Order: sequence, then structure tokens, then C-alpha cells
Amino acid sequence: MELPFAESYRIKMVEPIRKSTREEREQWIKKAKYNLFNLRSDQVFIDLLTDSGTGAMSDRQWSALMLGDESYAGASSYYNLKNAIKNITGFDYFLPTHQGRAAENVLFSTLIKEGDVVPGNSHFDTTKGHIEFRKATAIDCTIDEAFNTTLEHPFKGNIDLNKLEDVFKKYPKERIPLMIVTVTCNSSGGQPVSMQNLREVYALAKKYGIRVFFDSARFAENAYFIKMREEGYRDKTIKEIVKEMFSYADGMTMSSKKDAIVNMGGFIGFREEELFKKAAQFNIIFEGYITYGGMSGRDMNALAQGLDEGTEFNYLETRIKQTEYLGNRLIEFGIPIQQPIGGHAIFIDAKKFLPNIPKEEYIAQTLAIEIYKEAGVRGVEIGTLLADRDPVTRENRYPELELVRLAIPRRTYTNNHMDVVAVAVKNVYDRRNEIKNGYRILSEAPIMRHFTVELEPVR
Ligand code: F0G
Repeated sequence: MELPFAESYRIKMVEPIRKSTREEREQWIKKAKYNLFNLRSDQVFIDLLTDSGTGAMSDRQWSALMLGDESYAGASSYYNLKNAIKNITGFDYFLPTHQGRAAENVLFSTLIKEGDVVPGNSHFDTTKGHIEFRKATAIDCTIDEAFNTTLEHPFKGNIDLNKLEDVFKKYPKERIPLMIVTVTCNSSGGQPVSMQNLREVYALAKKYGIRVFFDSARFAENAYFIKMREEGYRDKTIKEIVKEMFSYADGMTMSSKKDAIVNMGGFIGFREEELFKKAAQFNIIFEGYITYGGMSGRDMNALAQGLDEGTEFNYLETRIKQTEYLGNRLIEFGIPIQQPIGGHAIFIDAKKFLPNIPKEEYIAQTLAIEIYKEAGVRGVEIGTLLADRDPVTRENRYPELELVRLAIPRRTYTNNHMDVVAVAVKNVYDRRNEIKNGYRILSEAPIMRHFTVELEPVR
């Protein structure tokens, strides 16, 4: 008999979590104005709000922390991190930042000016936010297949080379300071980009003289998918694949809170010394001196160790198999989810799940609230609330997809927890026809409203 799969780690420290009753949860979510961000964490049993900064560090990371060097300049922790980044990505220059969006802020302050365009594959919200904040435009060049949730395609994060070339032809080079490839592509469902696509995108960009940066938050998960799905990579190590991936980029921004398995941190990697030097000026005013920029020495040490662990096959296999496990259980129950299953999260297709709710009543938010009430499981709406209003007309923007994302923290929950999540979603699905009303907005902020929006049920 073939041995079953088991996690490539054992547990050394635990954190108690609390179950609650349906009555308690109904009170709490009402008090939270039906916004899941307003819940206290102890009102949540299984927290799948994000996989960002929520993973469990290893014993080796915790011990690296104790060796942190807190010198203002030239700390050994900085050099540990510099070596780890060089070994894993090949980039000679780097700047530490306090998280991923800070890396975007520093890099874009250096490169982007009003009227510029920045093509890419479904830029993440903060990336897009930082581009639009500078009165520039993010142009989505993702392949069309990505927008069909049931279509099987191994690399739904891929960039459509024709769409990209159209952008390169339409705008002068001076107005395209860089392009961004997000690996894996969070906004299209944690979907990977193939090595072939990375190679071709880079060649095309070089032909037009355009700089390529990777938004690398989940680069290691991307490498895992290349190994498993792309011809010619099965026998390569994750670290070899990662090295090749980054050879098709001029630099990277990193939210270390994801694939580097730390609770806080980020960085920018550069190939060009000149650009590094320019960006260093912004890093100093926004983040901190170049050898710590927003991170303590101990955290840089833990991050250096996390980059090494996060690019090990055994860890990644455990990680991705857990996401697959939850996805497959949901598929067995007939629940409409984004397929193929991505790396860090399951995305439930809320329009298909709740066909009775009109789009004006926030379909995905309604579903996320029902799942919370059912079992204390917190996911996040990726739908009309997140899409926000059109900056000019102030009308709601209704995105093509209304999704509930269940993001899985790294090394944190067991598959028993995943079973609870799956059954909770199934129970809601079984009574989906009784759910006829959604929510209306009581108050909202002018930008990034989903974090603070207040809602009430439509009766
Ligand atoms: N890029 C991607 C692809 C991301 O998913 C995120 C964050 C960022 C950049 C920004 O990094 O949070 O460290 O400032 N994503 C989190 C999420 C928030 O829940 O998906 P950050």
C-alpha cells in the first residue's frame, strides 16, 4: 500500500483558539457592522482572512531571531539577509522595507510619474493603489482564460503577449517606467505564471527597452507549480527554478509576510546599481537607513532563514497540498470554486453560489458573512466592496467575479481545521436558496472602503 501524505514538520508550540456559538457570532458580526475586519480575532475560530504575516515560524527562525544584531548601520543581520537574497534570487542589491507595499512605495517613488502606464498581470490592490496614487495607470494584460473560473489552465497567471505588445506599441518607452509580473497572481486566484511566459515576457520587454520587476510575494509557490506542471522542470530543485525565474527580471518587490514566512517585513531587489542608489534615497526618508529600512535586526535574521525554508520542496509540498485538500473537499460538495486550485487560497465563486442576491447587495460579502455565522470561519470578500467606486463617476464598480477568498496561513492549521471549513461552506451551500437578501452600506471611506465599511442587512 502506498503511504499516505503527511506534513513535513511536527508541532513544538501551540496557540489555543476558541470556539463560539452561532448566537454569539450573530451578535458579534452585527456589532461589527457586518464587516469581518471589525471582528476581534478571539471571535474567530479559523481565520482565513489572509495568508500574510499569519504563518508559523520554525524553531530555526525563532533561534535566528535571538542572534539579531540591532546596530543602526552595518548590522550582521543585514549581511545575513543580503547573502540569502543574493543566493536565492541572484540580485546583487537590495533594500529592506517594513512590508510589501512599502517596497512598492519606495520603488514607485523612484520610477513612476504622472501619466505613466505600468502593464502587468492583474496588479495586486496595493500595487495598483500606489500606481494610481501617482496618477499613473495599471494596465492588465492577463490572459483571458484567467477570468473563467471553471476553465482548466495550468498557468492562469500568464501574461498575454499580444496585449502586452499593444501597450508597448501604443505608449512611448518614456511613459512605461517598468512592467510588473506578479508571481503567483493573487488577484486572479493565486494562479502561477509559467517559466516559458516569464522568459517570453522578458524577451519582449527587452526588445522595447522596458524594465521588468516581479511582485514576488508568492514566488516560491510559483516555482512549485512550475516544477509540477511545466515540462522540463520536474527534476530541478525549487531553488534552481527560483534562480531561473528571477533571471527574467531586473528586480523584485517582496512582501516577506508570504513566502518568506515571517510576520512582518519586505524588500526590494535590484540588478542595476544606479537604480538601487536612487531608490536608497527614498528608502531612507520613508523606511529607514539602507541597512535596516523598516526592519529590526532580529527580523532580518528570521527572514533570511525563512527565505531558505520557504524555497524547500518538502515545505512547499505540504503547503500546497493543504490548499488542494480544502479545494478538493469543496469540489466534492459541488461548491463552485476557482479552478485549478491556486497556491495560497481557495476562491469561491459567489455569483454561482448565491444566484438570488442582486449585485447591488454585495454578493461575496453576503457569503463571507454566512460562512462566519455558520462556523466562525473568517474569509474575505473580493468583490464589489473591494473594487470600490469609480474615482471619477463615484459609481460602484461591479467586477466580473464576486469571490470569497479563504487564504490559508502557512504551517498554522491542520487538515481537521480544513474539514471544518469545508463542512461549514457546504452547510451554507445546502441552504443557499433560503439566503435571499444581502446588505446595504451605512457608511464608507472615500478610498479602500472595504477595510472600514459599515453595513446593515437588507430586509
Ligand atoms: N503583492 C501581493 C501579490 C500581495 O498579495 C500583497 C499583500 C502585497 C503585494 C502587499 O504586501 O501586505 O506586505 O504590504 N497581500 C495581502 C493579502 C495583504 O491578504 O493577500 P504587504
